[in-house]
Amino acid sequence: MRYRPLGRTGWDVSEVSFGAWAIGGAWGAVSDDESLAALHAALDCGVNFIDTADVYGDGRSERLIARLKRERTEKIVVATKAGRRLSPHTADGYNAANLARFIEDSLRNLAADCLDLVQLHCPPPDVYYRPEVFGALDDLAKAGKIRYYGVSVERVEEGLKAIEFPNVQTVQIVFNCFRQRPAELFFREAKRRGVGILARVPLASGLLSGKLARNSQFEPDDHRNFNRHGEAFDMGETFSGVDYEVALEAVEEIRQLLPPGTAMAPFALRWILMEDAVSCAIPGGKRPDQVRENCSASDLPPLPDETMRAIRGVYEAKIKPLVHQRW
Ligand SMILES: NC(=O)c1ccc[n+]([C@@H]2O[C@H](COP(=O)([O-])OP(=O)(O)OC[C@H]3O[C@@H](n4cnc5c(N)ncnc54)[C@H](OP(=O)(O)O)[C@@H]3O)[C@@H](O)[C@H]2O)c1
Repeated sequence: MRYRPLGRTGWDVSEVSFGAWAIGGAWGAVSDDESLAALHAALDCGVNFIDTADVYGDGRSERLIARLKRERTEKIVVATKAGRRLSPHTADGYNAANLARFIEDSLRNLAADCLDLVQLHCPPPDVYYRPEVFGALDDLAKAGKIRYYGVSVERVEEGLKAIEFPNVQTVQIVFNCFRQRPAELFFREAKRRGVGILARVPLASGLLSGKLARNSQFEPDDHRNFNRHGEAFDMGETFSGVDYEVALEAVEEIRQLLPPGTAMAPFALRWILMEDAVSCAIPGGKRPDQVRENCSASDLPPLPDETMRAIRGVYEAKIKPLVHQRW
């Protein structure tokens, strides 16, 4: 495993890290034993950074990470999120009292005295025009409740606005072969300001592992079943917002580019790691075998220019018209 600096935090994080949404919920049935085994496998592979949220399984994901921390001695950086407990989910809800309450819940779930990194969880864009929200986070940092804070955003422009606040240390954004716009301007700006980048949904919800087909079935409580068109939350979080059938065609074209012996998931993650502004990719993993395969991306050599051009070609021809100007 190779490590990269996480912005200005002083932490070096595994370039392939762990996304802990699926082990909490909204991805069909998961067993805590298998999820914990997946987390252990990640640490065995050198992962030292885990992304979670208070709402993933209503604290289930955070509590599993607390168990992992009890069972291991390595230093793990845990990034959680706050804001999505709000109902309705409004900018007004992002006030000092609510944020303090959410953070107390996460401290309890994670059995921690201080949270390493708290990210605002894709708040309504108006939040980025309310400096008092970031002031409240500064106060929580001064009080020793959180070490650092960042944001998770839906759109490039939200990321650009967020990094105007000097204490935003990280931005989490969808970035993968099917969502290339962040690399145009945003990464340059983030790098210039020393802001760490977490590349989320790196496998386009599993599509870029190459295992999905037209007839793949998803359980009723899997967002790949119930949120394909954004019925429950932003549709960009499910299959990266790309039409399923079109995405499958693009996946077949990308499959032709795989070097012999390389699986598609690590190849797709290696594509992300070609971008040096990215601190880490955070693939979701439900089982140890997936985690090990994803971590192997860090051992792959850089992708040749020709391959990068070919992936860009697939994006331009098939995907860009569907997503580029939307996020
Ligand atoms: N708003 C936000 O802030 C937000 C939103 C989305 C995600 N995130 C974060 O980003 C992380 C990653 O995104 P994601 O989990 O949505 O999507 P992802 O990483 O693109 O896809 C993860 C899913 O793909 C499948 N998979 C993983 N590795 C595989 C492999 N090697 N081979 C085959 N299938 C594999 C697994 O599901 P199956 O086995 O069931 O197919 C897994 O749950 C999340 O866990 C979360 O931490 C944050």
